[in-house]
Amino acid sequence: MKETKRDQLIDILANSQNGFISGQELSRNLQISRTAVWKHINELKKDGYQFEAVPKRGYRLLSRPSAVNESTIKWDLQTEWLGQSLVFKDEVDSTQNIAHQLAREGAVNGTTIIANKQLHGRGRLNREWVSHHDDGIWMSMILRPEMAPCHASQMTLFTATSVVDTLAKFANIPVKIKWPNDLFINDKKFCGILTEMQAELDHIEYMVIGIGINVNQESMSFPEEIRQKSTSLAIETQEKWDRRVLIQQLLVDFETTYREFLTQGFSYVKDKWTNNAYKLGEKVLVNMPKKSFEATIEGITDDGALLVRTIDNNIEKIYSAEIHW
Ligand code: BTN
Repeated sequence: MKETKRDQLIDILANSQNGFISGQELSRNLQISRTAVWKHINELKKDGYQFEAVPKRGYRLLSRPSAVNESTIKWDLQTEWLGQSLVFKDEVDSTQNIAHQLAREGAVNGTTIIANKQLHGRGRLNREWVSHHDDGIWMSMILRPEMAPCHASQMTLFTATSVVDTLAKFANIPVKIKWPNDLFINDKKFCGILTEMQAELDHIEYMVIGIGINVNQESMSFPEEIRQKSTSLAIETQEKWDRRVLIQQLLVDFETTYREFLTQGFSYVKDKWTNNAYKLGEKVLVNMPKKSFEATIEGITDDGALLVRTIDNNIEKIYSAEIHW
């Protein structure tokens, strides 16, 4: 995405080693007049940025607003490529839809779309993902991996492990991964992952990985139909979370896990996944379009399928099913 002068101004001040940058230098770097620099600074102050301005030395950025927006997320974002191209919207139908559109238009690998609110958030199997308010993280990442489409399901699994890694940095909460794409805390869902792709038989053109995390919802903010089975990080930890900081860490951890996945292969992810698997070794109900049966979860295979042991002691590989208990 093209950076605005305002974004560039924030970047320059944020990255300044010496702290202060003179109005003259800013005007030269940005190729705008000194009056325009001064106007931008005043606008930024209104948005909650704080500056120290010293005659003859210039401006120094002291702090940013805690708001979640494109520039606050990008400020100090410690990734190499993921989210460096960032689209932030207050309200969208679904970040997945925007991601598909941008990917078709040629958006670079790592382009990330984040919204405060989604009017029609989508989950797997075209279910609704409730995300009408700015109390969660609703984001979609465009990836252009050089891999065969048959590995795509592994991406969902490794995304889940990277979210687990991120949360472990903030709180000691028992996060479990329910195959294939849900994250649970204390038997309630708080995060879903939606992996979609555009592919030829042997080639992925692009993937869109959507992550939805319930962050600051109170129990009553969930619609009644899902209230009993849904939770948020705030409910589980009894404190409100800073969404900006969480988004930045999610991007860093995803980028790191992705790098390891590309170099070491799926084995890197598999152990982590298994260590955090929900209902591992327990009896569940496997619901498939043509059959339903009871089985015990044994783990996952190298191609991301779920391994279950049936009651007649057979091991079955499940590629697509709903798991209930
Ligand atoms: C699921 O649980 O079935 C997956 C839920 C995925 C929700 C995220 S929120 C960001 C992105 N935009 C969407 O419309 N869906 C995904």
